[in-house]
Amino acid sequence: MKTQDLVQLVKEFGSPLYVYDAERIEQQYQRLTKAFSKVENFKVHYAVKALSNISILKVLKKLGSGLDTVSIEEVQLGLHAGFDPKTIMYTPNGVSLEEIEQVAKLGVQINIDNLSILEQFGTLHPKIPVCVRINPHVMAGGNANISVGHIDSKFGISIHQLPHLLRIVENTKMHINGIHMHTGSDILDIDVFLYAAEILFETAKHFKDLDFIDFGSGFKVPYKKDDIETNVEEFGKKLTKRFLTFEKEYGRPLTLAFEPGKFLVSQAGFFLTKVNVVKQTTSTVFAGVDSGFNHLIRPMLYGSQHYIENISNPKGKERFYSVVGYICETDTFASNRRIAEIKEGDILCFHNAGAYCFSMSSNYNSRVKPAEVLWLNGKGHLIRQRETFEDILKNQVEVEGL
Ligand SMILES: Cc1ncc(COP(=O)(O)O)c(C=O)c1O
Repeated sequence: MKTQDLVQLVKEFGSPLYVYDAERIEQQYQRLTKAFSKVENFKVHYAVKALSNISILKVLKKLGSGLDTVSIEEVQLGLHAGFDPKTIMYTPNGVSLEEIEQVAKLGVQINIDNLSILEQFGTLHPKIPVCVRINPHVMAGGNANISVGHIDSKFGISIHQLPHLLRIVENTKMHINGIHMHTGSDILDIDVFLYAAEILFETAKHFKDLDFIDFGSGFKVPYKKDDIETNVEEFGKKLTKRFLTFEKEYGRPLTLAFEPGKFLVSQAGFFLTKVNVVKQTTSTVFAGVDSGFNHLIRPMLYGSQHYIENISNPKGKERFYSVVGYICETDTFASNRRIAEIKEGDILCFHNAGAYCFSMSSNYNSRVKPAEVLWLNGKGHLIRQRETFEDILKNQVEVEGL
C-alpha cells in the first residue's frame, strides 16, 4: 500500500488509527512456508497475542494457518473466527487446571508447561493427548522481557526435569503427542536456535508417540532500512535438513510447527497519529501526538524503535525531533529522530505497528482505544470502531446513593 493511501485512511477514519495490510501478511506467510517447503508436514500456528482482531485471524485462516493461543479468551476468538479446534494450540503459563480443562473440552491441543499441572491433568484425563513445553535453557531472544528460555525463566519444564517428566507420563499413562519450546523473540543467531532445537530432538527420543515438534517462534524482523533480521531462508534450509534426518531416525512422520506472531504481522501494521503540538524547548523539539503509551507501549516497555515517518510532508527537509505522547508520565516514542519537518496537524506514521501494539493498548488516562482498519484488495475496511466515552463507562457500576 502507498503512503497516500494511509493519508486518505486518516481522512476517512480519523486519528489515531491502526492500519494493517493483508497483502503484507500473506507475503510473510508465504515466505515462511516456502523456506520449509521440503518438510511434508509443516504447520504455522499464528500467535494470536500479537494482534487478535478477528478479521486478522480470518486472513490467516484463509492462508492455511492454525493458531497459537495463551488464554481461553484467545481460544474463543479463534473459534469465533471459524478455526477448527484441532488447528489451535493452547500454550498457557501459570493458568489454573480448571481453565486448561475447559479448553481441552473445546477440542483444542493442550500444551502444558509445568510438572504440577501435568501430573494433575494426566491423572484426571489420561486419554487427552498433551504437548509439553520444554525449557532448553538457552539464552536467546532480544530484550530481557522477551527472552524466555533461559535458566531463570518461569516458562516451560526444565530440561533437567526430564526424568521427573517421564515418570509422570509413565505413572499416569498419559499420551504425549507433541513437544514444544519457545526460547524468546528477536533471536538474531540462527545457530543458537539450532542448538536449542538439538536439545528438543534429544528430548523427543524419549517419547514414542509424538505427532509434532513445535519450535515456537523468535524470528526477528527489521525495524528500519538495513536493520538485521532472521535469515528465514537459511534457517529453513538448515533446520529442514536436520528435521528430516531426525524424522527418519524417529521412525514415524512428524509435523514441524512454528508459532510466529511478529514475523507475520509486525511489518503489515502502521500506526497513524496527528501532531497536536510542536514544542521547542531548551534541549530539543518535541512533536506531541494525539496518542501515547496507552496505544503503543512497546517503546516504553521494550525500548523498541519504531521507524517514524511524516507522511504529510514526506519530502520535507529533515530535522531532529523527540516524538512524545500525551500521557501524564514520560511517554517517549522516539528521541533525537531525523524526521521530515513537522508542522502541527501533520500525520506521523509509526512502522512495524502490527505486532504487540493494539493488542497491548489500554484505556490509561481514560482515553478511548483507536480504530483499526484492514487494507484489503486496494480498499480500507473498518475492523474495529474507535471506542467512545460509553466504552469507558461500560463496566463501571455506580454505588447507589454515593
Ligand atoms: C509461546 C509463544 N509462542 C509464540 C510467541 C510469538 O513470538 P513472536 O511474536 O516473537 O513471533 C510468543 C511470544 O511471546 C510466545 O510466548
